[in-house]
Amino acid sequence: MLRDEAAPIVILTGAGISKESGLHTFRDPDGIWARYDISEVATPDAFINNPDLVHHFYNDRRAALIDPDIQPNTAHRALARLEREWPGDVLLVTQNIDDLHGRAGSKNLIHMHGELLKIRCNHCDLLTHWSDPLGRETPCPACGKSGGLRPHVVWFGEMPLEMERIYAALADCGLFISIGTSGNVYPAAGFVQTARDEAGTETIELNLEPSNGATLFDHSQYGPATELVPAFVNALLTP
Ligand code: APR
Repeated sequence: MLRDEAAPIVILTGAGISKESGLHTFRDPDGIWARYDISEVATPDAFINNPDLVHHFYNDRRAALIDPDIQPNTAHRALARLEREWPGDVLLVTQNIDDLHGRAGSKNLIHMHGELLKIRCNHCDLLTHWSDPLGRETPCPACGKSGGLRPHVVWFGEMPLEMERIYAALADCGLFISIGTSGNVYPAAGFVQTARDEAGTETIELNLEPSNGATLFDHSQYGPATELVPAFVNALLTP
């Protein structure tokens, strides 16, 4: 049914899809929020009160991400294949700020929480790729002023990116797939309800364990993303 209609697909991913590439999730026992306090490193007030700590937090994560050992895994690559081979639109919305979906080949991709390898300037309209350490003294490559550069990352209390485009896709999709997210953070955690309410969409959760929104999904499979996602994409693409 879905394939015949070339139904549009919306995919939401979270940190769990990058875990097997070697990146930490947030709320697992070894997760990032077990080692850092969100209010000290991931809010606008944190950046005002202690910019050096915030820069240190993101410099550490940026350095970890550009490590050559960190590569897209078979789940990232399977989603890029689905975008290439599915007869209808496939929109991939990720909560992740890593660049693994893009490096795996996904193109119709929204980073709703921003991107770790981009920075912007509070003094001018700079938005650019950046993989080096960043600090209060780093001069903006565009306007030359220091003290205004920040990671292009959406902090708690800030508006996620491209929400209009995301809601338009949710209102029109035939299949909504949630992968590797605990369903703790809105608005992403509410996308499954929006897809059901607005489009009567078939919904599936692929995760290591039931997420907070598990009961909202029509189908669910639990296990590592590198096992579930390639098999799921294979089944979807096999007429
Ligand atoms: N395969 C599939 N799922 C996995 C794997 C794996 N190998 N390992 C862990 N998971 C699952 C966990 O069971 C958990 O449900 O991935 C989910 C990760 O949840 P979180 O750590 O809460 O990460 P996420 O849902 O992406 O967090 C959302 O919260 O802190 C903010 O901005 C941050 O984007 C992040 C948002």
